[in-house]
Amino acid sequence: MNIPFLELSRMEESLKDRLKNRFSEVLDTGIFSGGKEVIQFEASVSQFLNSFHSVSCANGTDALELALRALGIGSGDEVIVPAMTWVSTAEAVVLVGAKPIFWDTDSQGLIRSDWEKAVTNKTKAVIPVHLYGKMAEMMTLTKQAKSLGIFVVEDAAQAFGSFQDGKAAGTWGEVGCMSFYPTKNLGALGEAGMCLTQDSGLAEKIRLLLNHGQPFRDQHEMVGRNSRIDTLQAAFLNVFLEDFQENQRKRKVIAKQYLDAFSGIDGLSLPLDILNENHNAHLFVIQSERRDELKAFLARQGVGTAIHYPKILPDMKPYRTEGDFSNARRLANEGLSIPLNPYLKEAEVDFILDQLTRFFRTE
Ligand SMILES: Cc1ncc(COP(=O)(O)O)c(C=O)c1O
Repeated sequence: MNIPFLELSRMEESLKDRLKNRFSEVLDTGIFSGGKEVIQFEASVSQFLNSFHSVSCANGTDALELALRALGIGSGDEVIVPAMTWVSTAEAVVLVGAKPIFWDTDSQGLIRSDWEKAVTNKTKAVIPVHLYGKMAEMMTLTKQAKSLGIFVVEDAAQAFGSFQDGKAAGTWGEVGCMSFYPTKNLGALGEAGMCLTQDSGLAEKIRLLLNHGQPFRDQHEMVGRNSRIDTLQAAFLNVFLEDFQENQRKRKVIAKQYLDAFSGIDGLSLPLDILNENHNAHLFVIQSERRDELKAFLARQGVGTAIHYPKILPDMKPYRTEGDFSNARRLANEGLSIPLNPYLKEAEVDFILDQLTRFFRTE
């Protein structure tokens, strides 16, 4: 067997044809920035996630930076960030001139609920990251933030389509940031991102910031930048959106098979809540003290795996910080993502189930 962790070239021929057709349509219009595909994409996301404003941009890292700038966060400010996340969460804070203050996570990689202990008189915001697709406890977190008078910027880059109490990831905070990087559950054929907000003033400011500060051509009201989405990426995302729910169903079916097969294995922790609506089953991350051995074993059997992420941010050179990050560090040392995507074939899932259980039974 040769089962890649994720190989996007495996998408069905019929889907490839739909994407090629949409490419031809865009080519014929001659409009490659803005236009009806972008308008349609934003409207569809707003409707699906029940978000008042959905402002597309060039990628998820920009979305975070735009959100922080729109909230007026900059030099001298502090922003609380979980120790275990993709680097962009802290990178965006530094890019706007503020300081990331790292806080440990729980066993699932979500910011620990006592993060408010990190608050100082410089704290302007907290960024919960819905890591692997599982949402942080947002009702409590938004209440805590409100009582402390600080903003919530959700890093929902991995959590498109997760809902908590019927409310979508990205719609709880002042701004929610999405990534449509190709490997995401809703991924473009390139780079794309989005800010969700329920506040019209913030939406307007984000739109200005991502388009050189111009409400109209050649009228520049603030120093902005160019972070517009490509029309082509919006067009491809409109096609991928048509299949989103069906792909989610496929992910959940596979996740259930894994849960059923692996529950009760000694020394193996399974992802919590992955079948619930507050988890979009973006990644299936198991945890074991024997992670490296298991990864090597699966590789020998032809099963690709990945580590999200092998190093916590406070241990990285640009973000070096001392502190108690023991849960986050454990996840970095013991977490292993096994294949979970709509392109997996039944026989492949069976093979993964067999090999993984064999490892814990015999090795
Ligand atoms: C948690 C998290 N935050 C931010 C990002 C940044 O998104 P992008 O790669 O689109 O810049 C990603 C995606 O890679 C992510 O997983």
